[in-house]
Amino acid sequence: MKVLVIGTGYVGLNTGVVLAYLGHRVTCLDLNMEKIDLLKAGKSPIYEPNLDTMLTLAYDHLTFTTDYDEADISTTDVVFIAVGTPSNADGSANLEYVRQAAHAVGSRLNDHFTVVVNKSTVPIGSGNWVGTIVRDAYIESHGMKPDQHYAIASNPEFLRQGSALYDTFYPDRIVVGASDPRAIDVLTNLYRPILNQDFTAAECLPRPEGFSVVPLVTCDLASAEMIKYAANSFLALKISYINEIAHLAEKVGADITQIARGIGLDTRIGPRFLNAGIGWGGSCFGKDTAALISTASEYNLDMPIIQAARTVNYQLREEIVMRVQDELKILKGKTVTMLGLAFKPNTDDLRDAPSIDIAKKLIQRGAKVRGHDPVAMANMQRQYPNLAIEYYDDPAQAVADTDAILLVTEWPVYKKLDWKTILKDGKVKLIDGRNFF
Ligand SMILES: NC(=O)c1ccc[n+]([C@@H]2O[C@H](COP(=O)([O-])OP(=O)(O)OC[C@H]3O[C@@H](n4cnc5c(N)ncnc54)[C@H](O)[C@@H]3O)[C@@H](O)[C@H]2O)c1
Repeated sequence: MKVLVIGTGYVGLNTGVVLAYLGHRVTCLDLNMEKIDLLKAGKSPIYEPNLDTMLTLAYDHLTFTTDYDEADISTTDVVFIAVGTPSNADGSANLEYVRQAAHAVGSRLNDHFTVVVNKSTVPIGSGNWVGTIVRDAYIESHGMKPDQHYAIASNPEFLRQGSALYDTFYPDRIVVGASDPRAIDVLTNLYRPILNQDFTAAECLPRPEGFSVVPLVTCDLASAEMIKYAANSFLALKISYINEIAHLAEKVGADITQIARGIGLDTRIGPRFLNAGIGWGGSCFGKDTAALISTASEYNLDMPIIQAARTVNYQLREEIVMRVQDELKILKGKTVTMLGLAFKPNTDDLRDAPSIDIAKKLIQRGAKVRGHDPVAMANMQRQYPNLAIEYYDDPAQAVADTDAILLVTEWPVYKKLDWKTILKDGKVKLIDGRNFF
């Protein structure tokens, strides 16, 4: 099939590369010229395991452009909108990028049947809203109403940064919401190799043993949109829940790792997302929980559970700083090394990363802050040039002659440091923000 993916961020690029690998002809469009230039040269603008290899493998089926006219929308079967939907100041989702993309698509549709898919996480009701923008743009440019030439669908994305390609090839489920059955047919065909798991897996991303058919959930637009928000809010609250339990466990002298194992073995609960630590960050949980609360408020509904998950989460960033202070007694003039800056391992993404708040608080309280991250340091330096962190390329040097080491992101490489020597005279305090050691 002929596919256009608008937005080459963590979601769009991953989607484009996977669909191209499966044999579809994919154009990836982004307004960011720097990203497209890198992609044309075969290089990924973001860090994601195996992305460079997969780009090479799928390269013959991929085209990159910054130009909507060049994307030839009028002959495209499926257009994915995968642009960012950041938070507005009031917590609602900013849909301006989606609006721009939908308008650009609508004005270029023609007689060929095209499914316009919202892959961005958009508030409930956005499918209808995008439909209206596409329709108005069509009328504006063609001078007449569109005649069944397109359908709108919602296909929320559930990938995890750090294993985005793996999650797309081997998802737990694919959700497609649409009122037009033609849209469901087209997307079912598009995803058939994944649904049936009959594609030849790339060597770098082998199919997990026993992994076979992927469930397809088809529903209406609003339900698909709500599934995404409900899933992310649930995961966010599962983490906040274990963190709340961890507080009490610490007071009563219980071991939160054992507690998590003990409850996680209950199949009704499950073991994942029960790692106590400094909580979640990243581009989705904070933004999506805020957006769900904002949508609910439009219906005069409170979401006290989701609100509580947020409160618990963001308090953790202050609590970990207090923990460092408790260990060092005085923060002023002390050196604190932060190991890990990205919001999670295996990504270079810093959106809503706990490291940023923690570094700010430590610096405000007079500590000298050092930082190391295997891939996110350049982004941190570029995005937060005024944050007075001293960066180290070598984690061993970052932890030498420091007063405290704060493990912020559980990159496996940190397990390989010579901890016996680092901690031998008891002068350096280790604060494990992720229960990693
Ligand atoms: N990152 C994740 O793990 C994840 C997971 C699931 C869902 N999502 C959702 O997917 C969406 C995209 O997230 P992301 O992390 O890939 O974002 P991102 O910020 O990494 O990428 C968005 C891209 O869209 C481009 N863009 C913006 N406006 C455009 C336009 N009008 N035309 C063409 N390109 C345009 C930007 O230049 C940018 O490269 C968001 O709604 C997000 O909530 C993200």
